[in-house]
Amino acid sequence: MRLLFLGDIVGNSGRQMVRDHLPRLRRELGLNAVLANGENASGGMGLSAKSAQELLRCGVDVLTTGNHVWKFPDIRPLLQSEHRLLRPANYPASAPGRGMGIYDLGEGLPPLAVINLQGRTFMEALDCPFAAAEKLAAQAPQGAVIVVDMHAEATSEKRALAHMLRGRVQAVVGTHTHVQTNDATILDSVTGYISDLGMCGPEDSCLGMDNDIILRRFRSGLPQRFELAKGPCMLSGALMEMDQGRCREITAWQYRAS
Ligand SMILES: [Fe+2]
Ligand SMILES: [Fe+2]
Repeated sequence: MRLLFLGDIVGNSGRQMVRDHLPRLRRELGLNAVLANGENASGGMGLSAKSAQELLRCGVDVLTTGNHVWKFPDIRPLLQSEHRLLRPANYPASAPGRGMGIYDLGEGLPPLAVINLQGRTFMEALDCPFAAAEKLAAQAPQGAVIVVDMHAEATSEKRALAHMLRGRVQAVVGTHTHVQTNDATILDSVTGYISDLGMCGPEDSCLGMDNDIILRRFRSGLPQRFELAKGPCMLSGALMEMDQGRCREITAWQYRAS
């Protein structure tokens, strides 16, 4: 099973990059499924129902999210009805949607279970992501390939989660910090891991936002109205090969159009 997991898709230009290139890349890379974090896909922060549906139409099989998922209220009913759209599992149970999905990829492949979690270090005080991960991993069907998106600020929290799940899930990938890390590895010959997938959006930017505005914010200490950066976009993520219940290969992956 060959999977591509794309890091946070940022804004219209990030979505356009996915629209323009993903259908062809799916074929060229021989992918069985594409997963992506969509929490920044609408305007750079949040995910509207329209953007989510667009991404699910153009080659993304499962959309995970994170702390910005609630910005556009129209995502709430879609989180309830669309099983390919997930939100972090450790939000209170009353929040709309679900944090795990089980997907049948056909072609005699094992079921794919995707778990979405959110860290708590330097983030909102949610329920414990470690307890949520234990509970959901135990609910996944026997023989499923389990892939976890740990949407978190702190690398240590992501690595600790991977350590807890090593040997029991096939991948733990980090999202949220938008800068791809160079630590892709396989734990105990089973669990592919990378601390952050990076983002899909404008390359010359501060995490997708206009450099000058972010610099002004840091230098002045005053709030600024964020705007998306302009210029060429890139796709970032990880390519993974799953076989016989193990991650055989995980590679940090980037794509530029030119
Ligand atoms: Fe993000
Ligand atoms: Fe985030």
